[in-house]
Amino acid sequence: MNKHIAVLAGDGIGPEITEGAILVLKRVAEKYGHTFTFEHLLMGGCAIDACGEPLPQTTVERCLASDSVLLGAVGGPKWDSLPGDKRPEKGLLGIRKAMGLYSNIRPAKLWAALADASPLKAHLVQNGIEIIVVRELTGGIYFGERGKYEDENMGETAWDTEKYSVKEIERITRIACELAQKRSKKIISVDKANVLESSRLWRKIVHTYAEKNYPDVEVCDMLVDNTAMQIVKNPAQFDVLLTSNMFGDILSDEAAQVTGSIGMLASSSLGDGTCGLYEPIHGSAPDIAGKDVANPIATILAAAMMLRDSFDMPKEYAAIECAVSKVLESGVRTADIMSEGMQLVGCREMARRIAEAI
Ligand code: IPM
Ligand code: MG
Repeated sequence: MNKHIAVLAGDGIGPEITEGAILVLKRVAEKYGHTFTFEHLLMGGCAIDACGEPLPQTTVERCLASDSVLLGAVGGPKWDSLPGDKRPEKGLLGIRKAMGLYSNIRPAKLWAALADASPLKAHLVQNGIEIIVVRELTGGIYFGERGKYEDENMGETAWDTEKYSVKEIERITRIACELAQKRSKKIISVDKANVLESSRLWRKIVHTYAEKNYPDVEVCDMLVDNTAMQIVKNPAQFDVLLTSNMFGDILSDEAAQVTGSIGMLASSSLGDGTCGLYEPIHGSAPDIAGKDVANPIATILAAAMMLRDSFDMPKEYAAIECAVSKVLESGVRTADIMSEGMQLVGCREMARRIAEAI
C-alpha cells in the first residue's frame, strides 16, 4: 500500500522521537512491501518561531490531505509566557479540532519485561495491567468558553467552562462500547456527577446510549477522585475507562506511570474517518531535548497504532509490538525505564534496535 504520512515533530524531544518512529515505519514498509512517504510540517513552538502562529493554515490543509498524522510533542519554557491562544499547545488542540478527532484512545499496559518499573508493590501488578483510556478529545473544558476579568472585590479572576452535549457524549460512548465488545465487555465511565451538571448529563447519556445500542456491554460509573485512587490501589480492576477530555488527560498520565513510564504510552486520535493523529501521551521534555536520552517507544507504538487503526495493517502493528517486546526482553533500556543489570541506550539506538528486530 502507498500511504502519505504528515509528520508534526514539534518541540523539545519531538524531533528525536519522531525520527525513531519513522525509522521503524521505514523498516515495516521495506519488510511488508509498502511505500510510506513522509511530509514534515510545522506545529507548536517551532511554528511560532517560524511563522508567528502555533498552527499555520498549510499545516491544517496538508494534514487533512494526508492518510494520517504522526506527532511528536509540543511546548516548552521558551513559549510559556505567551498568551493562551498563542501558545504551542493551542496548535495541538487546534489540529485535533480541525481534523474532528473526538476519540482519543490511550492504552496503558504493563509490559512483562518492565514489571519492576511500576512504582506499585509487586502483588498489585503481578496479574498484569491493561487500562484503555477512551478520552473525549474535542469538547469539555478544553474547548468551552473562557475569560478573564477584574473583579471589584476579589481582584483578577479567570474562568473556563466544562460543557458537553448529548451528541458529543453519545459518539464517544459508541467508541468505548465498540472497544469493550472486543474485550471484557465492561466499561467504567468516569465523572464528577456528585458536583457537576455536565457530569450528570454525561452519566445519564452514557447509560441510555450504551443500554439501547450495546446491551451486552456493562457500564459502571466511578467518580473521578475515586478513580484516581483506585488506579493506584487496584489497577487490575480496570479495562475500558471512558472519560471526558480533562479527566482523561489527568488519569492517562496516572495510568502511564503505574505501568512503568510515561515514555511507553501511545495514543490514537480519530474522528469519523480513517485519517487520524498518532502521538505519545507524554510531553516535549525540554530538559532532555537534543541529548539523545528520550524514550522513543511511545511514539513508535503510536506509529504502530496508525498502521492498525488508520491503514488496516494488523500484521504490521503486531510486528512492531512484538519487536518492542523482544528488545525489552533482551534487557535494552532507555534512561526512564532503566534498572539494575540492564543495558542503557539512547533514543536513536533504541529505535534502531526495534527496527532491526522487525
Ligand atoms: C496530552 C497533553 C495535551 C492535552 C497538552 C499538551 C495540550 O497533555 O495530550 O495529554 O492536555 O491534551
Ligand atoms: Mg496530558
